[in-house]
Amino acid sequence: MTEDSPNRRALITGVTGQDGSYLAELLLAKGYDVWGVVRRSSTMERPRIDHLHQPGADHSERFQLVYGDLGDASSLFRIVEEVQPDEVYNLAAQSHVQVSFDTPEYTADVTGMGVARLLEALRSLRPEARFYQASSSEMYGKVVETPQSETTRFHPRSPYAAAKVFAFELTRNYREAYGMYALNGILFNHESPRRGENFVTRKITRAAARIKLGLQDQLRLGNLDAKRDWGFAGDYVEGMWRMLQADVADDYVLATGETNTVRLFCEHAFARLGMPLTWEGSGDTERGLDAARRVVVAVDPRYYRPAEVDLLLGDPSRARDELGWVPEVGFQGLVEMMVDADLALAEADAGRSARP
Ligand code: NAP
Ligand code: GDD
Repeated sequence: MTEDSPNRRALITGVTGQDGSYLAELLLAKGYDVWGVVRRSSTMERPRIDHLHQPGADHSERFQLVYGDLGDASSLFRIVEEVQPDEVYNLAAQSHVQVSFDTPEYTADVTGMGVARLLEALRSLRPEARFYQASSSEMYGKVVETPQSETTRFHPRSPYAAAKVFAFELTRNYREAYGMYALNGILFNHESPRRGENFVTRKITRAAARIKLGLQDQLRLGNLDAKRDWGFAGDYVEGMWRMLQADVADDYVLATGETNTVRLFCEHAFARLGMPLTWEGSGDTERGLDAARRVVVAVDPRYYRPAEVDLLLGDPSRARDELGWVPEVGFQGLVEMMVDADLALAEADAGRSARP
């Protein structure tokens, strides 16, 4: 990466999340001044970004945090007025699909209406800013075609996905109605060692490592047959940035073009730890056994969703052809990266609990 964007100002909502942390690193390395929006919480720890703003950290003088919330329009207006950003990356959301069934109104407010609030702040105070909206492959839901591309019709299957469709359409509308440079990245699932622990990939790699070290007995999962197009978050934030550098704003899919089941993800994760799995049973009674025939993976219907997205597979050819974006990390490399990181964390935990 080169320091090729001196004095440009980027505003990132959701900077404490998985993608926000990688994007902040990328933009700082490119020479941007970066403002990250954070919510007040009862702890000052922000483990994904603490390394970026400690005194002495690389570029820490160009990284600032501001308090705000997508549920609070006044905070967004104040931040836009203060920062006068050149680029705005809206990554903040209630981003968990299952949780959105439990909190539909909140999810609609933050993940959907939050985008209306932010776009209005930009339209009023900084209409020339370039705006990136974190749209999602989850919008394809009950898919009408495979692979899914920029032209595939949406069929959302959760309150989260419905909120993301609203935000997608609003972003496109502000582009068409007001001529604003506003676009959607339609990103398929992307993961990393920084992934939240209740998304399936991280839940698997964390549990596998802890089972390996005897810190946990079993991993309990929902639908093992779901198929996802999983990539590496570090590759995807590069794609976000490339989108906002294009001369003309347009919407782009980012995906790997490969899909795999949750079951296969488990197999690769445990295999990486020298624990090959064999499967027995089916449906609710399916289980994964290790070489000693211990049940290390069990199905738990509590993790089934009221409406499931069975298959996601993206066609990233527009991003490849127009932006030159090609993901570097494949499925196997992603699983290994995550397992290795979680093994190191589990070893540290085991060391702490062994100490007198
Ligand atoms: P994530 O790790 O869950 O991070 C979400 C971020 O949003 C956190 O920084 C969170 O802050 C912030 N946030 C939540 N509610 C907020 C509110 N009311 N006001 C301000 N900030 C709020 O998500 P991610 O995986 O990085 O994903 C980033 C974005 O891409 C999300 O919009 C997600 O829906 C979308 N997306 C993700 C994927 C994927 O596979 N990862 C794929 C497609 C689209 P706290 O730390 O304070 O909770
Ligand atoms: N979370 C979770 N926990 N998912 C499970 C489990 C479990 O125990 N067992 C099976 N699954 C299945 C889910 O039913 C789903 O089909 C699949 O694993 C992936 O679930 P998640 O990892 O929670 O991700 P997601 O696909 O629902 O949503 C993620 O990707 C979207 C992009 O398509 C999130 O990052 C969204 O914010 C993002 O938009």
